[in-house]
Amino acid sequence: MTDPTKISPTATDALEKDFEDSIAERYNRDYHKSPIMRYFDSQFVDYVCEHYHSQDRVLDLACGPASLWGIFATKLGGTDNIVGVDLSPKMIEQAQSLYPDGKFEVGSFFDLPFDSGSFDIVIVSSAFHHVHDDLLIKALEEINRVLDEHGVLIGREPLQSKRLSDTDGWLSGALMHFRHMVYRLNHTREYPEPDPGPNHHAYDPEEFLQFISTTFAIKGVSFHNPVSPFIARCKDALVAHIAAFLDLSVAHRGGHELFYTATKNYSESADVSQCIQNFIAQNAITDNDKLNFAASLEVASRHLEDYLTANAPKSDTTESKR
Ligand SMILES: C[S@@+](CC[C@H](N)C(=O)[O-])C[C@H]1O[C@@H](n2cnc3c(N)ncnc32)[C@H](O)[C@@H]1O
Repeated sequence: MTDPTKISPTATDALEKDFEDSIAERYNRDYHKSPIMRYFDSQFVDYVCEHYHSQDRVLDLACGPASLWGIFATKLGGTDNIVGVDLSPKMIEQAQSLYPDGKFEVGSFFDLPFDSGSFDIVIVSSAFHHVHDDLLIKALEEINRVLDEHGVLIGREPLQSKRLSDTDGWLSGALMHFRHMVYRLNHTREYPEPDPGPNHHAYDPEEFLQFISTTFAIKGVSFHNPVSPFIARCKDALVAHIAAFLDLSVAHRGGHELFYTATKNYSESADVSQCIQNFIAQNAITDNDKLNFAASLEVASRHLEDYLTANAPKSDTTESKR
């Protein structure tokens, strides 16, 4: 039987806080600095912009070290109406030092330091996967409380399935080949993922949307970045460009990331499962997508091969032998 203290909000928050404090200083560098990661962020903020109206009161919940604030400033026309909240005091310290005039507070998903109805938009960028499944509904209820009646929850989460690389056969082989070319270009074999920390897990999209619909009415779902996450830490701008081209060639289907919008739910939703199935079906990879993608991959590989030939290292470096 699960030890109930292990899934109490305070117990999980304590564990999570220590972990996030320990990575706060390097977090932006590890997760937001490469050209591909910046392109993910920009894409997500574009998605937020689709729902944003000037003067909206925005809560950036689990904001980390204000990772998206540079792009918010540009695309939302400023950050005066945004408040950033994070569980980790060290993350908030970093955020405040990057944006001295920004409004930031330490706080938890389960007990937000705001009156009911304080926000028009709550953004949760890549953070629900840090919450234990048994506590997710509690977090959603708290977000529902601080959202105004017409408010919108906008988020993104990494996924464990719906990935192009999980498609059997030639497609995953071709992707693997492409990945190796990128590694050769950068003279490293791998881009190790930083330790994701305790209790973190990527969701199955259907399971995740079911969670959201316990409290909210889902209004939109899309998948993003089917290819680029494999090479996300690559520092080369040309490769980032190629990755974006490949992602777009499959029209964001079968991606590693789920973007979603949800509003307060005033209806007796007739059939939430059916609605979720429809969203997923709209984003499913078709045979035609696979063919388009294969053609794009061939073009991308040719560009990369030319680039590799033109930039062949003169001699082996220590890194190249890793
Ligand atoms: C992967 S980071 C995401 C940071 C930022 N939103 C981004 O897009 O990069 C997850 C963040 O969730 C925060 N977090 C985890 N549990 C939390 C909780 N219970 N309440 C508030 N923030 C939490 C962590 O401290 C961490 O900064």
